[in-house]
Amino acid sequence: MSDLALYGGEPVRKTRLSYGHQYIDEADIQAVVEVLNSDFLTCGPKVAELEEALCHLTGAAHCTAVSNGTAALHVACLAAEIGPGDEVITTPVTFAASANAVLYCGGKPVFADIDPRTYTIDPESIERCVTERTKAVISVDFTGAACDYDAIRAICQKHNLLLIEDAAHSIGTTYRGTPVGGVADLTTFSFHPVKTITAGEGGAVLSKDSTLAKRVELFAKHGITRDFDLLQEKGNSNWYYEQQLLGYNYRMTDIQCALALSQLKKLERFIARRKELVRKYDEAFRKIPEVIIQTEAEGSDTARHLYILRLDFDRLNCRRKEFYDAMQAENIGVNVHYIPVYLFPYYQSLGYRRGLCPNAEAYYESSMTLPLFYGMTDQDQNDVIRAVEKVITYFRQ
Ligand SMILES: Cc1ncc(COP(=O)(O)O)c(C=O)c1O
Repeated sequence: MSDLALYGGEPVRKTRLSYGHQYIDEADIQAVVEVLNSDFLTCGPKVAELEEALCHLTGAAHCTAVSNGTAALHVACLAAEIGPGDEVITTPVTFAASANAVLYCGGKPVFADIDPRTYTIDPESIERCVTERTKAVISVDFTGAACDYDAIRAICQKHNLLLIEDAAHSIGTTYRGTPVGGVADLTTFSFHPVKTITAGEGGAVLSKDSTLAKRVELFAKHGITRDFDLLQEKGNSNWYYEQQLLGYNYRMTDIQCALALSQLKKLERFIARRKELVRKYDEAFRKIPEVIIQTEAEGSDTARHLYILRLDFDRLNCRRKEFYDAMQAENIGVNVHYIPVYLFPYYQSLGYRRGLCPNAEAYYESSMTLPLFYGMTDQDQNDVIRAVEKVITYFRQ
């Protein structure tokens, strides 16, 4: 095996391969151009069209499109009436927004540990975190895989907790046959460019419950209603609107909705290719004893967003940093998902301490994310596999 590029050898590939990339085709471009030539750049027909399409996809009864996945989590927490004194249990292996949304509302995020095999929140750890102040659970379908929802829903039912599913990674995944969006009380999506479908920026909140859905919509639109019945009741004409609570402007534009709708038409294709890439990675890495393959919760038919390379560093002469740097030098754009949220200085300033979730910390120390996106070619994937083999062979004890 040749020398690592990190130490002056030839890299596995000449050009850099990023870990994720949007796929935009002519139909997407046309969809956006059509809106630009129309009467409505925002608050127009594409918003309702996207909301309907997401309900159709997921079986949810209600959907509100919002400006991004973080806004979606924020209004979901507001709809769940999270406030000062309330605790919300979530996972540290997520993007900070899943926990920040609780802080925005004045609540306290409580971090449950992850299952070391699936990397998603461990139901037993959730149970141990429940107190009389616990109001909700925010589960995160990390990598796109559904969490163990049979167990999580049972805990929520037992303790009367609302379940918010952060499905930023998992659009298109099903859990025991039910599409994500129809599993939890509230489900949030993100349409950031590295996600399975994109709107540039965008998000959505889905729900079966009309009361929750109404609150979501109010909070996302300044707390203002234009409810027709109300308007009639109060004897006004159609200029009338009413602010009922303090909300935000979290609207998604028609431009973004048109792009999301166009992307949604390709979702099946996107998922099929991602599944194919995951199968090939799994097959290649099962033969390498230093690699640990992610297990998925039983019942998850996964539309995979991320592929995690987890390594057994007891068998290697290096740490994650060296391995990561070596992969980068081979021109493979690895990434790390995620630094456990409570290790950030901001969370440390709130009193959270290292050691809180040992499985999450061990996972973080031993993992990195490999490229996975629809537009990746077979050659790209072969390069990634070759680079992993090359770096492991070099550092093998
Ligand atoms: C798990 C998770 N939750 C929430 C978000 C926030 O989504 P957005 O970037 O659209 O605000 C992201 C995306 O970055 C995410 O990965």
